[in-house]
Amino acid sequence: MSGGAMTESIDFRQNSRRISVVLRNQDQEAPSKNREFPLSSNSFPLEKEFADILSELDRMVGLEHVKELVYEIYALLQVEQFRKLEGLLTKPQVYHMVFKGNPGTGKTTVARILGKLFKTMGVLKKGHLLEVERADLVGEYIGHTAIKTRDLIKKAMGGIMFVDEAYSLARGGEKDFGKEAIDCMVKAMEDHREDFVLILAGYSEEMDYFLSMNPGLPSRFPIQVDFPDYTVEQLMQIANLMLQEREYLFAPLSAEKFRIQLAQVKAQEWEGFSNARYIRNLIEKSIRYQAVRLVRQHMRSPSKQELMTIRPEDLQFDKI
Ligand SMILES: Nc1ncnc2c1ncn2[C@@H]1O[C@H](COP(=O)(O)OP(=O)(O)OP(=O)(O)O)[C@@H](O)[C@H]1O
Ligand SMILES: [Mg+2]
Repeated sequence: MSGGAMTESIDFRQNSRRISVVLRNQDQEAPSKNREFPLSSNSFPLEKEFADILSELDRMVGLEHVKELVYEIYALLQVEQFRKLEGLLTKPQVYHMVFKGNPGTGKTTVARILGKLFKTMGVLKKGHLLEVERADLVGEYIGHTAIKTRDLIKKAMGGIMFVDEAYSLARGGEKDFGKEAIDCMVKAMEDHREDFVLILAGYSEEMDYFLSMNPGLPSRFPIQVDFPDYTVEQLMQIANLMLQEREYLFAPLSAEKFRIQLAQVKAQEWEGFSNARYIRNLIEKSIRYQAVRLVRQHMRSPSKQELMTIRPEDLQFDKI
């Protein structure tokens, strides 16, 4: 490491792109060998925290466009540092976003990771995620909404305010207090431009309608991200990932049984289908069923392999 710079090359997106990350304390001069961008050598050590956050994002199945977006933000911030070194103009970007997608498509998880990333990149001071919904923002009498909303914005300072089902703020039309909450947030976005990031999240169609009904809004949210429903293949990958994280695995027949169930559920095109959350619930239930089976079967301690294996009979798909 030279000049205190903490740098390293990491695999940012599997096989598709290799980037190097340069992190530096703001007041330190970058060593001249780091001035070239993109960097290709992997000889730069990277601050561990940053690498951990990126690998957390990278581990998530699919979400290529989200990974792409983070890459863009990272690249921009890095180039800003280089421009500063050359005495060139840098203008802070606006990072307010709209996340559109069905339940369980990873919106909250990605927002949480982004908060941590922004903190590490120096965009946000704290990087925490404050998740709120209509009931948290909207009050019952005139003036109440502004108080509630301002209080929450204060709590979100230095981090991300994530408004779930944001379209519900426009539910009651002009006279509804939801409108007051929107106005209050818009004002805070102007007054505290660089102090927090606002993410509005919700179902795609509702969010599009919501934005079209509030013509002043879309330009304030330059980043719009779609979270598509996962395919059966992706849901299987998510299931395997969740099992692996818990040190479990599917017996071959279990994987087959699980895949068939997913194909059936997806084919029903059920509106309330909760994507990765559905998978998490099934996995957790199967882990409970496996525990009951093992306790019933064994007088002594089961083998390590048995403790890890989810058998077909552990998979029950009735009530979730
Ligand atoms: N691409 C993915 N890879 C691995 N796990 C995922 C992925 N997407 C979501 N998950 C997991 O699925 C669960 C639900 O995700 P999350 O809460 O982020 O969804 P959401 O879009 O915010 O849902 P909702 O709209 O219902 O709030 C979490 O446990 C999360 O870690
Ligand atoms: Mg969520």
